[in-house]
Amino acid sequence: MSTATIRNVLRGDGDRFIYVVSALAALNGLLFGFDTGIISGAFLFIQDSFVMSPLVEGIIVSGAMAGAAAGAAVGGQLADRLGRRRLILIAAIVFFVGSFTMAVAPNVPVLVAGRLIDGVAIGFASIVGPLYISEIAPPSIRGGLTSLNQLMVTTGILLSYFVNYAFADAGAWRWMLGAGMVPAVVLAIGILKMPESPRWLFEHGQKDEARAVLERTRSSGVEQELDEIEETVETQSETGVRDLLAPWLRPALVVGLGLAVFQQITGINAVIYYAPTILESTGLGNVASILATVGIGTINVVMTVVAILLVDRVGRRRLLLVGVGGMVATLVVLGTVFYLPGLGGGLGIIATISLMLFVSFFAIGLGPVFWLLISEIYPLSVRGSAMGVVTVANWGANLLVSLTFPVLTDGVGTAATFWLFGLCSLVGLVFVYSYVPETKGRTLEAIEDDLRQNISLAD
Ligand code: BGC
Repeated sequence: MSTATIRNVLRGDGDRFIYVVSALAALNGLLFGFDTGIISGAFLFIQDSFVMSPLVEGIIVSGAMAGAAAGAAVGGQLADRLGRRRLILIAAIVFFVGSFTMAVAPNVPVLVAGRLIDGVAIGFASIVGPLYISEIAPPSIRGGLTSLNQLMVTTGILLSYFVNYAFADAGAWRWMLGAGMVPAVVLAIGILKMPESPRWLFEHGQKDEARAVLERTRSSGVEQELDEIEETVETQSETGVRDLLAPWLRPALVVGLGLAVFQQITGINAVIYYAPTILESTGLGNVASILATVGIGTINVVMTVVAILLVDRVGRRRLLLVGVGGMVATLVVLGTVFYLPGLGGGLGIIATISLMLFVSFFAIGLGPVFWLLISEIYPLSVRGSAMGVVTVANWGANLLVSLTFPVLTDGVGTAATFWLFGLCSLVGLVFVYSYVPETKGRTLEAIEDDLRQNISLAD
């Protein structure tokens, strides 16, 4: 890129402006990943500072997910009512307040409050990041751009491992948790560069502003896109939040809810949140386990990049089928390795490699494609609210798995737990094959049109 082009891009002109805007919006994902990942390290030291009951300990670790479910429950409607951009600003402020509160917490109740506030911000961010990008992106690169958000989720998780590591010697948990204030400030400043979603503007009667945003972010096809948006807005006047349950919307709701639940009950966060514990039980030492955990975090980032490069070319369905299929296979191997006697040595290495492959398959399929599809398949008038409902289900299932994983491994054993995740993945594979639509390269309006005409999304 020449210096002049870079100047244009930063000033907000030209084709490449869309990349700058999307990258800024993807900071929502960075905060989501960072704030979910940081607690595992910080928690070890918080335990030294305060006396806590097991219940309070549970709330501090899982409180963010409960908060996120609450945030998602209201965030979707807020996005529809206030606009995508305002919700991003609100998310950035709430992230800042949550991280600040945790960093200075003088006692346990304040710490818990900070964690819940932080969770609400995670809930807002998990909806509005993909929603905003999918609405501002041109159809031909929408998959890759929207998945930037998931790339930032995985980068945030990895970054949190490094920040934990950097402050671990000093046991500085306040710095670990407070570090989340930095990306929150960057996001809040970034908003100044980000225009409102053209689709939201149009729907709220601001047609000239919508045209101006499309002109700034497209090199061609603005009029055609405006016409399509107009047509959709005109036909949907009678669609309200209540109509989320309308028969014609049901297929899209089933797809979203199904993917939301399968993304979690196939076990990704048992690995992301508990990797060091799982790895230690395979016979790896302390340090090696932490290093392997960083390896898993890195693979998660790298394979998400691969998904971004492929998603607009090979399509959403194929990535999901390969990804979920691979998860079934690696989970069967993992269960078997933990079932065989004498873990350690060769078997320990197979277990570590299988864990890495499992995360890779998640990262090219269910990780990015779930968030992408739910930002594409709902009609404009209820898009935020529908994503809210689906995202609540995702956080609810996340909470369920992360709370029950230790209980399950304790009760039925690690082998059976991985087989159970494998069985869920197998059902997920059948679900994807039967119900998930291909949205590659189509405008959001064309996708909505099919839904209105009762064309089965999976055809
Ligand atoms: C999921 C998170 C998960 C992360 C891992 C996201 O798509 O929603 O629950 O921790 O991916 O990369």
